[in-house]
Amino acid sequence: MRPLFAQIDLAAVRHNHAFAKRCAPGRQVFAVVKANAYGHGVREVVTALHDEADGFAVASLEEGAEVRAMHDGARILLLEGCFEAGEYAVAARLRIDVVVQGVEQAEALLASRLPAPLNVWLKLDSGMHRLGFDADALRAWHPRLAQADQVAELNLMSHFACSDERNHPLTEAQLEQFLGLLDLDFAQRSLANSAAVMTLPAAHMDWIRPGIMLYGATPFAELSAAELGLKPAMSLNAQLIAVRDVAAGESVGYGAGWVAARPSRIGTVSCGYADGYPRNAPAGTPAIIRGQRAPLAGRVCMDLLMVDLTDLPEAGVGDAVELWGAQLPVDEIALACGTVGYELLTKVTARVPRRYRS
Ligand SMILES: Cc1ncc(COP(=O)(O)O)c(C=O)c1O
Repeated sequence: MRPLFAQIDLAAVRHNHAFAKRCAPGRQVFAVVKANAYGHGVREVVTALHDEADGFAVASLEEGAEVRAMHDGARILLLEGCFEAGEYAVAARLRIDVVVQGVEQAEALLASRLPAPLNVWLKLDSGMHRLGFDADALRAWHPRLAQADQVAELNLMSHFACSDERNHPLTEAQLEQFLGLLDLDFAQRSLANSAAVMTLPAAHMDWIRPGIMLYGATPFAELSAAELGLKPAMSLNAQLIAVRDVAAGESVGYGAGWVAARPSRIGTVSCGYADGYPRNAPAGTPAIIRGQRAPLAGRVCMDLLMVDLTDLPEAGVGDAVELWGAQLPVDEIALACGTVGYELLTKVTARVPRRYRS
C-alpha cells in the first residue's frame, strides 16, 4: 500500500466545535460541512458532531441529502440556495432550509408547489457583492416572502468579506447594514463565519456558521490556530521511500532548478500534487521528519516530492513524513504557497485514504 494517508482527528473537530459554541454562548451553530467537510469527510464529521451540532451548512442539495441521511433531526442550511426550480420540492421533502440570494431564486420559490413550506434565509448583500439582495430590494421582497405559502420561517443572513482582517472597515459597514434591517420581522438571523465567531461578538446573532475553525486552521493571517486555541484536525502523512547522496552542483527534480550548494542527502517522499500537495510549494517549504523540519528540494512532482535531508543525517527510508498537521500548521504551508489553509484542506484528493481517530 502506498504510504500516504490523511489522519483525521475527530476529537479535535469536537473540541473546535465546542470552542465555537463557547465563543457564542446561547447561540446555535450551523457547522459548515460543505466540500466534504473541508476535505475531512462529511460522513465522519457529521457523525462526530451528531449529538452536539444544532445544524449543518452545505453548498448543494446533494451535500444536504447526504447530511440528512446521517442526521434526521439536525437543521440543514443550503448556503447558496437552490440552483434549479425543481430543487425546492426536494429541499422541502428533506427538510432543508434554503437561502434565497437573488430575484430568480425568489421567483422560482414563489412559483413552486411544495409538499411542506420551507425555512427561508433571505440573503443580504451587505458589501461582499457576491450573492444577496441589497437592503432596498430585501425590504421589497420581505413582505412577499413573509406572506407566501411556500415559506415557513423567514430568516436573515449575510456573509463577511474581510472578517479575517481584524478591524477592517468593511466588516463594520457590513454589520451596520445587517443591523439596519432588523426592524423587519425575521424569525432567525445569521452572520458570523469563523473569524467573526472568534472576534466579533456583535455579529453572533441567533446562528453562527463556523467552517475553517472546526478543522483547526486559522482564518487570520496574523493569528495562528494554536494561538486561537484550535486543534488541527488533519495531518497529511507520507513516508521517505528513497534516500540518495547528491554531489554539490547536481540538480534535483523536474526542470533541474534546485542545485545542491553542498554535498547533499536527498529524500524522496510519497506525496505529490495529484494528492493535493500544492505544486507551487517553493523549495524550502518545510516537512516534518523525526520531529524536525526538512526543506523541500526541487519541484513537487505528481506522486512524489523531494526534501533536503543533509542536516538530518539520522533520517532514512521508511521514516514518517508529516506534510502538515499536528506538528506543522497547514496555514504555514498555505502561506508559503500564496494561498490559504482552506484550499489545501479541500484539495486533498480522493486517492488519499482518510484514517479516523475518534
Ligand atoms: C456563506 C458562508 N457561511 C459560512 C462559511 C464558513 O466560513 P469559514 O470557513 O471562514 O468559517 C462560508 C465559507 O465559505 C460561507 O460561504
